[in-house]
Amino acid sequence: MASIFSPLTIIFFFLLVLWGGEARDPFACDPKNAATSSLPFCKASLAIAERVKDLIGRLTMEEKVGLLVNNAAAVPRLGIKGYEWWSEALHGVSNVGPGTKFGGQFPAATSFPQVITTAASFNASLWEAIGRVASDEARAMYNGGTGGLTYWSPNVNIFRDPRWGRGQETPGEDPILAGKYAGSYVRGLQGSDGKRLKVAASCKHFTAYDLDNWKGVDRFHFNAEVSKQDMEDTFNVPFRMCVKEGKVASVMCSYNQVNGVPTCADPILLNTTLRGLWGLNGYIVSDCDSVGVFYNAQHYTSTPEQAAAAAIQAGLDLDCGPFLAQHTHNAVKKGLLREAHVNGALANTLTVQMRLGMYDGEQPGHPYANLGPKDVCSPSNQDLAHEAARQGIVLLKNKGPSLPLSTRRHRTLAVIGPNSNATVTMIGNYAGIACGYTSPLQGIGKYTKTIHELGCSNVACTDDKQFGRAINAAQQADATVLVMGLDQSIEAETVDRVGLLLPGHQQDLVSKVASASKGPTILVIMSGGPVDITFAKNDPRIQGIFWAGYPGQAGGAAIADILFGTSSPGGKLPMTWYPEGYVEKLAMTNMAMRSKRSKGYPGRTYRFYSGPVVYSFGYGLYYTHFVHTLVSAPKVVSIPVDGHRHNNSSNIANNAVKVTHARCAKLSISLQVDVKNVGSRDATHTLLVFSAPPAGNAQWAPHKQLVAFHKLHLPAKAQDRVRINIHVCKLLSVVDRSGTRRVPMGLHTLHIADIKHTLTLHPHINS
Ligand SMILES: *[C@@H]1O[C@H](CO)[C@@H](O)[C@H](O)[C@H]1NC(C)=O
Ligand SMILES: *[C@@H]1O[C@H](CO)[C@@H](O)[C@H](O)[C@H]1NC(C)=O
Ligand SMILES: *[C@@H]1O[C@H](CO)[C@@H](O)[C@H](O)[C@H]1NC(C)=O
Ligand SMILES: *[C@@H]1O[C@H](CO)[C@@H](O)[C@H](O)[C@H]1NC(C)=O
Ligand SMILES: *[C@@H]1O[C@H](CO)[C@@H](O)[C@H](O)[C@H]1NC(C)=O
Repeated sequence: MASIFSPLTIIFFFLLVLWGGEARDPFACDPKNAATSSLPFCKASLAIAERVKDLIGRLTMEEKVGLLVNNAAAVPRLGIKGYEWWSEALHGVSNVGPGTKFGGQFPAATSFPQVITTAASFNASLWEAIGRVASDEARAMYNGGTGGLTYWSPNVNIFRDPRWGRGQETPGEDPILAGKYAGSYVRGLQGSDGKRLKVAASCKHFTAYDLDNWKGVDRFHFNAEVSKQDMEDTFNVPFRMCVKEGKVASVMCSYNQVNGVPTCADPILLNTTLRGLWGLNGYIVSDCDSVGVFYNAQHYTSTPEQAAAAAIQAGLDLDCGPFLAQHTHNAVKKGLLREAHVNGALANTLTVQMRLGMYDGEQPGHPYANLGPKDVCSPSNQDLAHEAARQGIVLLKNKGPSLPLSTRRHRTLAVIGPNSNATVTMIGNYAGIACGYTSPLQGIGKYTKTIHELGCSNVACTDDKQFGRAINAAQQADATVLVMGLDQSIEAETVDRVGLLLPGHQQDLVSKVASASKGPTILVIMSGGPVDITFAKNDPRIQGIFWAGYPGQAGGAAIADILFGTSSPGGKLPMTWYPEGYVEKLAMTNMAMRSKRSKGYPGRTYRFYSGPVVYSFGYGLYYTHFVHTLVSAPKVVSIPVDGHRHNNSSNIANNAVKVTHARCAKLSISLQVDVKNVGSRDATHTLLVFSAPPAGNAQWAPHKQLVAFHKLHLPAKAQDRVRINIHVCKLLSVVDRSGTRRVPMGLHTLHIADIKHTLTLHPHINS
């Protein structure tokens, strides 16, 4: 037996010592600095509000304005270092913000699939698990002096228009899905101890921000005209859920205006809604240079001091950009802003820093103090990235069925397409430096022999020079996999698409290869936004289609696992795939969700659009079949309504009771459904439940609305019972034209997979 001090152990201890030596000095309240560390704001035993008040009381105006910006100035006199607030962790720790840098002991971080892909898993515990891992890695990097503690993620804007270049960053088009995602990911990032924060997340971009640069209209100048109705039941839903359910420590306001007011200068949005109505416990930050943008680009105020005052008075606490540091002091001097407002902003940012433990000095007992390089890119973290990609891949077509492929019958695969050996393309935007990559070619190569051809040198696919070689490869192989789609040159921040088709000659390459292929042809689409692939859906020579989104660092391994059936597909589309003709019917600048037949306006998302689709929201096939049986569900539910208010017509207009006048805080219905896997393969099932409100509320209501989703793993032939609770007032309500949420009485229809169940709601008057 070897010595207990094996060489590896010794190296490990050596690294620990080395690591200890490189840990960052405390941000503030360093015990080595007795003069400052004994001040009340450094006393972890005092209440945070008291410490914050103490600290603000010690700051000069000059020092205060230095703390209003992302690159917050040091206050050496009080032993406080400078702090860079801007870090990003959209799907793993990123280096997009200047607060986090890779290098040295932290060359990389686990790069999870892009959010649109992870959303397709419909697995809330996966979202939280990813947040936990990302924040472990973030804390480790902070401890090592290379990362921040304030992360401006997630992006929970509704993926309203399929052309949006940043749709990839979001959890899709459904407000409830986006809100659940926000809550889960934020809990994962921030940790579950309500007072202490692991890292501080930020839900962005508040609100109605989902246009980057479309036909000359850019986000810096765009005024989103949004009805009260759409605001309440679509655009604000994920933010409300992020604040109320996720307890997020920050919200970011956006560049655009909403109904003529820049969001970062709108007291109704920031102060009244976020803080007053939803109870935000945290800070409000501007998008980067939003304040400068509404002054310089939108000319919203006539002087920069007025802009600074408008932002802070509306409720903005921190400026990403220099504007507030430059102009706030003068705004106070000119009497446009009271110092109390500046103190209010600082109280919000300093409270978050205190909750992060930044004023606790050195804290050996701090729960996250031991996280270090070993916790970044660890095998288990990287396994989760691989697992997340498997869970997010969506099977769109399986003719025959010809999938999964078999290593016995398919000994040689032609692997073709501009994304066939993709690496950085797989991590999308707001990524970092990945721990490593498994490209599709490499992933497939672990199962079988491959013949590789790009077909086009990049996704733009401007010529057909390499088609001959690709066709030749397909003729020789037992099966062909084409990995096509988009990348950041086609859809990105500042780049919205103009159409929905595959770029350049991609479609032609797919069709030619498919018709030449000796064996089955499988098409894999890598993209954030939806692609009109009607041609492939209808082409009998293309037997299988997957959407892989941007599947992250291990995406190629996951694609191969699904292709060969070592993992079974269970993802569902988080957004509608429209035909190309759809986008010709509506300008990206038109924010209206609801259709207007008379004007030929088709409406947006599965909730309001009823025209033809390529694939619908929630679509996704399996390698098996599931049978559903409804075990129990109520047929009649009575809604307690306050008696003296009942015959006030504004409270019960159109047979729909105002949520605020129904006693329904805890009113929920529960369903039980048996799900049986009747096929011969173990598989994961994603059960989606939609509700359709009574017909009478046509002008208010969506066609249907996602109200619940549940994921379960079922071995072949196994059956399990799923219990689903639906909060009546939150989920069965609709929003009227004045923006008021109401529960319609009458017949609601629940769609539970392929089952339809009707449910009658009636008012029960309490006198
Ligand atoms: C902010 O909201 C509070 C109550 O929530 C209110 O007292 C205050 O006047 C508001 N300030 C502005 C500028 O709207
Ligand atoms: C695939 O990509 C990897 C990593 O970028 C590269 O090393 C390899 O040469 C590529 N393979 C082919 C066949 O192009
Ligand atoms: C409506 O209100 C009046 C008093 O304002 C009351 O007498 C009457 O019973 C109410 N009707 C119902 C249906 O509750
Ligand atoms: C009916 O309700 C509205 C709004 O809640 C209120 O303003 C109005 O005074 C009420 N009318 C009666 C007769 O109670
Ligand atoms: C959801 O994701 C978690 C984390 O990866 C995983 O443990 C769990 O099995 C998933 N649920 C299902 C039903 O696949």
